[in-house]
Amino acid sequence: MGIYEDRILPRLVDLTCGMRALDPLRERACADLHGRVVEIGFGSGRNVPLYPSAVESVSAVEPADLGWRMAAQRVAAAPVPVERSGLDGQRLPFADNTFDSALSTWTLCTIPDVLAALAEVRRVLLPGGTLHFVEHGLAPDPGVQTWQHRLNPIQKTVAGGCHLNRDIAELLTTAGFELREVDRFYQEGAPRPYGALSLGVAVSN
Ligand SMILES: C[S@@+](CC[C@H](N)C(=O)[O-])C[C@H]1O[C@@H](n2cnc3c(N)ncnc32)[C@H](O)[C@@H]1O
Repeated sequence: MGIYEDRILPRLVDLTCGMRALDPLRERACADLHGRVVEIGFGSGRNVPLYPSAVESVSAVEPADLGWRMAAQRVAAAPVPVERSGLDGQRLPFADNTFDSALSTWTLCTIPDVLAALAEVRRVLLPGGTLHFVEHGLAPDPGVQTWQHRLNPIQKTVAGGCHLNRDIAELLTTAGFELREVDRFYQEGAPRPYGALSLGVAVSN
């Protein structure tokens, strides 16, 4: 990783992803997590204070060292063990059928081979295990989609490989998940190309 990816991007991610307005969305995504949890794209640990009491432990997967260091206070204050256990969602260092639930918030946009990562999440989830997510991606409206396709090359360059135009529901079903619930809406106050959200739960059978 270069200086931008190593030292600047994790701080930008912490700032943009740390907006208070996102907390209610994080809370909804985290609400039904339980048991052993794997969180991919842990970032600076913005979800940690929102893990519900049914969570027993969290294995955090995050490539950015600075992101993990910025999470230190939240991790220390967590009522459950939170360990950095992997660096890449595309290659998870866990045995098959290890976790009850998985969490991904604003991360599926960025992982280069997102289908490989989703296959890994399915592999490490127990049968019937659930992936809880809130992600931005392809908007439902063609006019917004046009802008997303146009802005995508710039976004990928300045935001560490983040794609604006990934169809989150389609990726999940292509990866073999069954969508238990998915709410699609525009994030209040965000420009629509950046704020087309999918929030829900997908089941791995
Ligand atoms: C937009 S940030 C979201 C961070 C965090 N999930 C949140 O909600 O605040 C995307 C995160 O995905 C991480 N990431 C990038 N490539 C990844 C990969 N291959 N596997 C796992 N995480 C990755 C980035 O380092 C970054 O922390």
